[in-house]
Amino acid sequence: MQEIKKYVDENQQRFLDELFDLLRFPSISADPAYKGDVLKTADFVAEKLREAGADNVEVCSTAGYPIVYGEKIIDPSKPTVLVYGHYDVQPADPLELWHTSPFEPTIRDGKIFARGACDDKGQFYMHVKAFELMQKTDSLPCNIKFMIEGEEEVGSGNLGIFVKDNKERLKADIVLISDTSMISLDTPSLETGLRGLSYVEVEVTGPNRDLHSGVYGGAVANPATILSKLIASLHDENNHIAIPGFYDDVQSLTETEREQLNKAPYDEEEYKKDLGVEELWGEQGYTTIERTGIRPTLEVNGIWGGYIGEGAKTVLPSKAYAKISMRLVPNQQSGKITELFKEHFERIAPKNVKVKVTEHHGGEPVVTPTDGVAFRAAEKAIEESFGKKPIPTRGGGSIPIVALFEEVLGIKTVLMGFGLDSDNLHSPNEKYDIANYLKGIETIPLFHKYFAELSV
Ligand code: BES
Ligand code: MN
Ligand code: MN
Repeated sequence: MQEIKKYVDENQQRFLDELFDLLRFPSISADPAYKGDVLKTADFVAEKLREAGADNVEVCSTAGYPIVYGEKIIDPSKPTVLVYGHYDVQPADPLELWHTSPFEPTIRDGKIFARGACDDKGQFYMHVKAFELMQKTDSLPCNIKFMIEGEEEVGSGNLGIFVKDNKERLKADIVLISDTSMISLDTPSLETGLRGLSYVEVEVTGPNRDLHSGVYGGAVANPATILSKLIASLHDENNHIAIPGFYDDVQSLTETEREQLNKAPYDEEEYKKDLGVEELWGEQGYTTIERTGIRPTLEVNGIWGGYIGEGAKTVLPSKAYAKISMRLVPNQQSGKITELFKEHFERIAPKNVKVKVTEHHGGEPVVTPTDGVAFRAAEKAIEESFGKKPIPTRGGGSIPIVALFEEVLGIKTVLMGFGLDSDNLHSPNEKYDIANYLKGIETIPLFHKYFAELSV
């Protein structure tokens, strides 16, 4: 531990400078305008893996953005850790709400502000630097493989294919991911599950063209009004999701498990204050921790139609749209839920409009084991570097590839995230605390040490 701390202390400025270089690439996978930047980011990541001492580093092309692979095999008889992360980021808009430019990282108040600072550049780069540290201090205790992709924020469509085609190369005993949150530096925690996802887009069409809202309004169904009513009907008065069959496969937790989960510190007043809301909302009968961890949800992510420009234009739109995500919990299945949504939405649509439901990406929920050596290694590593045993929590976000690692490679995952829920992921002014970044770099080598020790 002393040696680790010393190395991090001596190199922390460079660790920050290098992360800043990585953050300057606008590697937005969703927007084709940034294609060149995303590709350059992959090359940069490969270069940094090589510099840190990885062998067989390769920028593996796919039908989409490349996957960066690298490894260090010290002894085939030793256990192998597969580190997964993503170098792509979410779009930065709305730009006007950023206090400083999203792709010019800035430190304020001990925090790094930039798109991707936490999700996931700051987090996966800790692993590159921890690997460098283990190499330089001759302390790498097990084999390590890196797989850093560039399409996580758009559903990891090509990673699934890559994983199926590279089963041998990706052989490992555990997948280690830092792309989730912990409660705080004072209250370290480990996520033990991720929700799945069904993402759909709906299009409601009324008249065959936009109409003058004075001439035709009142006589023709307005697709924006109809869409609003349809959306409003998707939750009942208790905020349960009103799609028949939606909860059929939901695994319920025992009272003891629920009690355990609710022991995690949570301050409702603080939570509301931080978000600027007077009151919370959610499924009746469940706490906030449960609503964001073990219960499925349905949320409108975007809704539009008709005139949304400056000033007022009197128009009855021909079409209205919404993007809707459903977060899923064990044992719901993304494909089945998408189908249930589609059938329900088509059934409840009135005859005065036509509806079309298109499917976007999906992913399956996962629960990660808490009884294996890898989870114990993560607990011990955190306990040693934070001075406190981590609390197990259930994460609300999704990393769809985790279920595939299990299904295709048969490998379980440890989610050792160092971000905070308040890091503004996918939002303006995304940040990552320098303290979390450095603490992560200190903790990761301990994970490898305990994983190797406990595996024998
Ligand atoms: N890193 C997040 C997921 C996450 C964040 C998990 C915080 C737990 C806590 C990941 O990059 C992400 O944003 N995933 C998407 C899904 C993807 C298919 C676009 C998500 O959760 O919306
Ligand atoms: Mn992420
Ligand atoms: Mn993300």
